Amino acid sequence: TTATSNGEGSGGCPVDHARLSPTGCPVSARAAAFDPFTGPYQEDPPGSLRWSRDEEPVFYNPQLGYWVVTRYEDVKAIFRDNITFSPANVLEKITPFGDEANAVLAKYDYGMSRTLVNEDEPAHMPRRRALMEPFTPPQLAHHEPMVRRLVREHVDRFIDKGKADLVDEMLYEIPLTVALHFLGVPEEDMETLRRYSVAHTLNTWGRPAPEEQVAVAENVGKFWQYAGTVLDKMREDPSGPGWMQYGIRLQPEMPDVITDSYLHSMMMAGIVAAHETTALASANAIKLLLENRSLWEELCADPSLIANAVEECLRFSGSIVAWRRITTKATKIGDVELPEGAKLLIVNTSANHDERFFDNPDELDLRRENASDHLSFGYGAHQCMGKNLARMEIQIFLEELTTRLPHLELAPGQTFTYLPNTSFRGPEHLWVRWDPAKNPERERPEILDRQVKITIGQPSRRSISRTMVVREVARAADEVVRITLADVRDRPLPKWSPGSHVDIELGELSRQYSLCGDPDDRSCYQIAVQKDRESRGGSRYVHERLAVGDTLRVRGPRNHFKLDPDARRYLFIAGGIGITPILAMADHARRQGKDYELHYCGSTRAAMALLDRVTRDHGDALVLHVSDEGTRLDVESLLAEPRDDTQIYSCGPQRLLDALAEATSHWPEDSLHVEHFSSDLGELDPEKEHAFDLRLADSGITVTVAPDQTVLAALRAANIDVPSDCEEGLCGSCEVGVTEGEIDHRDKVLTKAERAVNNKMMTCCSRACGDRLTLAL
Ligand code: HEM
Ligand code: FES
Repeated sequence: TTATSNGEGSGGCPVDHARLSPTGCPVSARAAAFDPFTGPYQEDPPGSLRWSRDEEPVFYNPQLGYWVVTRYEDVKAIFRDNITFSPANVLEKITPFGDEANAVLAKYDYGMSRTLVNEDEPAHMPRRRALMEPFTPPQLAHHEPMVRRLVREHVDRFIDKGKADLVDEMLYEIPLTVALHFLGVPEEDMETLRRYSVAHTLNTWGRPAPEEQVAVAENVGKFWQYAGTVLDKMREDPSGPGWMQYGIRLQPEMPDVITDSYLHSMMMAGIVAAHETTALASANAIKLLLENRSLWEELCADPSLIANAVEECLRFSGSIVAWRRITTKATKIGDVELPEGAKLLIVNTSANHDERFFDNPDELDLRRENASDHLSFGYGAHQCMGKNLARMEIQIFLEELTTRLPHLELAPGQTFTYLPNTSFRGPEHLWVRWDPAKNPERERPEILDRQVKITIGQPSRRSISRTMVVREVARAADEVVRITLADVRDRPLPKWSPGSHVDIELGELSRQYSLCGDPDDRSCYQIAVQKDRESRGGSRYVHERLAVGDTLRVRGPRNHFKLDPDARRYLFIAGGIGITPILAMADHARRQGKDYELHYCGSTRAAMALLDRVTRDHGDALVLHVSDEGTRLDVESLLAEPRDDTQIYSCGPQRLLDALAEATSHWPEDSLHVEHFSSDLGELDPEKEHAFDLRLADSGITVTVAPDQTVLAALRAANIDVPSDCEEGLCGSCEVGVTEGEIDHRDKVLTKAERAVNNKMMTCCSRACGDRLTLAL
């Protein structure tokens, strides 16, 4: 029955609710018209569901018999709870076949059953755990040289031709070769496997026309038999290095976990999981970057952006655009009630374009800080085990192509076609062209020696930098210069908030400087740098060598020193060059019409940076304390009277901050906020630390943290993604929720009150007081 069969357009709702919707709830016309096999969804899946994200984030589609879920938070919540939302239907046919095709499948004994991805608890987790080791970063590192070699050889084959279909000439075959190698399957007939994989996709996620079904079933049946034959051969000698052999060797030890049925189903599903996904994702990424030429050029100029570019491309255009679940009991998503047995199509790519979670989601942004929060790999207990192998392959593709073919462009006039199905998405062909005479390696063969370090795992936020050019160097006081920086290509810079800083790379060093310009001005940033006699090179370099026109690598902006927007009154105290973040805060307070007072301390007026501007803009609120004029700040008397309407923000020399801490000891807790540019976290001393366990509530595993290991490192070694940046307890990026166990807080991010609540921790430095913590991961 189709939704339109009872007369769409004849006025009123086209759907017979009582008959078609399990709860009898109204199905809107748009919900009824949703068709994932043709039209807008095939062309632009996230765009085609914008209406749903905005107006009807969970809707029932009678044609499919599925509930469609499109918002980030909902999709993630469903992935998170694999008990209520069972994955049992993940490999089920989304379109039932006719009798003839079913007879063909039966003829081949087709019996695709539970693997990992569609297995329920309690069977799934012991299997996942038993089979995880080959996917961990140290094991994956062994595959890197092979991937590089393959990519290089394939590019060699076409680099002098001037045009190529990247899918046919590289992007299909390499992930397939890597997948077979990873699984331990002999590299046989690639073309046959390609035909089988297409059939498997159509069989599981497509809507083949009745006349195509038999051919699809034939190939699916043969694929099933082929998987069985390979498995039988492998059993004769399971000593090889592949993941399938690894499972076969474990079978005698755990026959209930690694079953025969699992091995046969996984042999077939695994070939598709490991290669089709990666081939399509690579094609999506390259297409997307070439369509956004300036970003492609940026990658060519700066390969350190590749790791994050891969995440952003996976977010923007992942290869698995929708996945499935089925409810095991009546439940709710948002305010929509679902009965038991409700089938869900959860549209990851729609979640990835949800503006409620990602800023400007339809903009491809290579420096997007939370790009790797995308759901293209799923999340939680079933999250893609092969994600780090896929990330590695896509990085190496991009690295090789941006190095050897920076002048690559999409061949004009091509239309991209996609295999019509709900879930696997990537162009079937990707024609590119270039002028071989301009291949850089003809002039400079040494570029072939370039080897960028591959990130195995989720990229660190630290890796995201931009090249900026020095626009102005001006004197701001004795021994203080004010530097104006702009994007090298004059692109608008990210917005920042008062208290933000940037990290500037100066040779081997990286230094942090607070922003002190106008936060609304997206064309440039301003910092002020004081000459530090004990400088290890940072400020000396800036003062002695930095000139207009120089370029610098800049990370950020980041804010570890945020202004509480709800405070009724602010007291700002700056010592010396500490005026930079404080000035931005005071400017903000003035613009907001807030009650504030600004105290600025220095040794002499001549040494006080930006004094003219501070005086001009903050006249009434400003109190200057100049030591050589006898107006030194008396911290104790300033803070004698505690006030519960006032938040104090200070930046300056350590002795000033210490004095403030002491003078506010009788103030309400957390009244004083200070800027920390460095942390006193030492190296972990394993003698003084103890090991403890992390129970991960969403992923269903337990991870042990060794005495010489951070929580962050232990999580990553277990293939759990957690973002990080400073890794010194300063920035807050590595925060995770804690639901049980007492936290030994060591960061500088959380306030005393936040620590006391004991519900979140910074994983780069904080630990457990006892022997266990439960994390919301
Ligand atoms: C599961 C996507 C590459 C092996 C999954 C899931 C998704 C996914 C969406 C289901 C997650 C969930 O239910 O939460 C992708 C994408 C890839 C990719 C987009 C490439 C860009 C790979 C590779 C391998 C692999 C290269 C193997 C070498 C698996 C396995 C599971 C899985 C074994 C099942 C995990 C479980 O249920 O416990 N993948 N995948 N994937 N993937 Fe991938
Ligand atoms: Fe910055 Fe942990 S990574 S606080």
